[in-house]
Amino acid sequence: MYRDKTCGELRLTDEGQSVKLAGWVQRSRKMGGMTFIDLRDRYGITQIVFNQEINPELCEAANALGREFVVQVTGKVTERTSKNKNIPTGEIEIIADGLKTLNRSDIPPFTIEDNTDGGDDLRMKYRYLDLRRPCVRKNLELRHRMAFEIRRYLDSKGFLEIETPILVKSTPEGARDFVVPSRMNPGEFYALPQSPQLFKQLLMVSGYDRYFQIAKCFRDEDLRADRQPEFTQIDCEMSFVEQEDVIDMFEGLVKHIFKYVKEIDFADPFPRMTWHDAMRLYGSDKPDIRFGMPFVEITDLVKGKGFSVMDDAEITVGIVAKGCAAYTRKQIDQLTDFVKRPQIGAKGLVWVKIEADGSIKSSVGKFFTEDQLRQWAEKMEAECGDLMLVMSGDAMKTRKQLCELRLEMGNRLGLRDKNVFAPLWIIDFPLFEWDEETQRYYAMHHPFTSPNPEDIPLLHSDTGKVRATAYDIVVNGTELGGGSIRIHDAELQDTMFELLGFTPERAQEQFGFLMNAFKFGAPPHGGLALGFDRFVSILAGLDTIRDVIAFPKNNSGRDVMNESPSTIDQTQLDELCLRIELPKE
Ligand code: AMO
Repeated sequence: MYRDKTCGELRLTDEGQSVKLAGWVQRSRKMGGMTFIDLRDRYGITQIVFNQEINPELCEAANALGREFVVQVTGKVTERTSKNKNIPTGEIEIIADGLKTLNRSDIPPFTIEDNTDGGDDLRMKYRYLDLRRPCVRKNLELRHRMAFEIRRYLDSKGFLEIETPILVKSTPEGARDFVVPSRMNPGEFYALPQSPQLFKQLLMVSGYDRYFQIAKCFRDEDLRADRQPEFTQIDCEMSFVEQEDVIDMFEGLVKHIFKYVKEIDFADPFPRMTWHDAMRLYGSDKPDIRFGMPFVEITDLVKGKGFSVMDDAEITVGIVAKGCAAYTRKQIDQLTDFVKRPQIGAKGLVWVKIEADGSIKSSVGKFFTEDQLRQWAEKMEAECGDLMLVMSGDAMKTRKQLCELRLEMGNRLGLRDKNVFAPLWIIDFPLFEWDEETQRYYAMHHPFTSPNPEDIPLLHSDTGKVRATAYDIVVNGTELGGGSIRIHDAELQDTMFELLGFTPERAQEQFGFLMNAFKFGAPPHGGLALGFDRFVSILAGLDTIRDVIAFPKNNSGRDVMNESPSTIDQTQLDELCLRIELPKE
């Protein structure tokens, strides 16, 4: 037996016991005739003591150990004179009577501690060492715990966990596919699934009624803090359901996780907001409602006063930063620079301060009288001591820009507390999105999303107005998940493809297997998928999902540890009948 105890379990009640531990040398300190080793494994750290006087040979061997050596130690549990209150084993130490080096280690490139000296790139290159750090391990433990609770909840509700293929057919809608060439079918390709969407719908046709899968998904899209090319969904589908049934079931799941993993009880139903209200009030379909600061439109108050920026704008809309009238010129300039950053792209920012004494200062004093600015304040419900921040321009663009500013103000004012969780449902999404460039409609969700039955008569006459039976769940400004009730009627599905610009032949070529299946008695069905990585990172209070994935990719989609993607041998290319031609640049 390599060990009979772990490095995290011994307490004062074990005093006097002879034990055998195994683990990694985190640190060693020599103090006079004593050598102290912090021995670490997944479960914790235990202090081991070697005494020069009692056992000089053993002490010499301990002094020769380097960081991250793997060792086995035997000894007696003893009460520590100077206790360490920061670790659970801090009241005891092991007086060693045996030591065996199981393996040596090179000097690690960074310290294996929460507060490490290793930069991001270095830690990713040596991710297996990074994963030894307790703060990273904690995230993976949380991930495991959540996966376990998800399975427990869904099993109790009668869901079956069913795996679906990873080599699938490429479909043009949605993000870009990752593709895999087929050796046995030269010139043909599989795609990696962006989600198990079509398979889970087929499982409903097969009568499985309630399906779930903790599924790997792959999307070749630009990466952000909450996006990885390879990520995990909690993917679900249910038969004989309406929107309310799906929302109810998955609100239950999210509450279950918060309760059993985080010990947070949500007594009330999650709030719901229509997509239109979310865009109008927060400029985003994933509003962070941990704080207020809703948008107020003042277009009618500002037009025709000779300020061309506002006269020519489709909308003028603002927010009130409570208590920020004391902002200095420099602070306001910083905000203006913030909205002018290329990622946000605003032309400028108008500000109006209502000073503590009620007087008004603004950046638009030349164009507006004090009375007019007081009208803004009244409409925006700004009071003495507040700062109004106002933007003008094209409606959708301006709202998105103001959304960024609102979040920035939320950060500056400390209103986005990581320990506060504010979930909500966004409902009534538009079914279609118009794309100016290609002059066609795209499905906002996917082509199988059912229109709201009330809006079916508008499908041809007022296509852009049709609402989808689709819903997203949002937590703290992150889209945690989304889903919809699906079309199960072949005729309606044909109409949908037609509106999306598919010829019947192309629809048949891409989705023929699903459409054929629907001819054999498809039940009404719907579902949803939650982003598992995002769910874990929200509960862990992290800003990026990379920290909850054991082996993530960097922002260029590379795994810097195993150096993928990489080129392949000419023989492999030949077998696949592929020839590489790189662009000239
Ligand atoms: P959707 O595309 O909205 O829906 O994806 C569902 C959820 O998956 C997460 N997600 C991601 N997480 C990390 N990295 C990514 N690149 C990434 N892309 C998406 C998000 C998102 O809310 N088949 C439908 C679901 C359905 O209709 O049932 C789907 O995939 O948290």
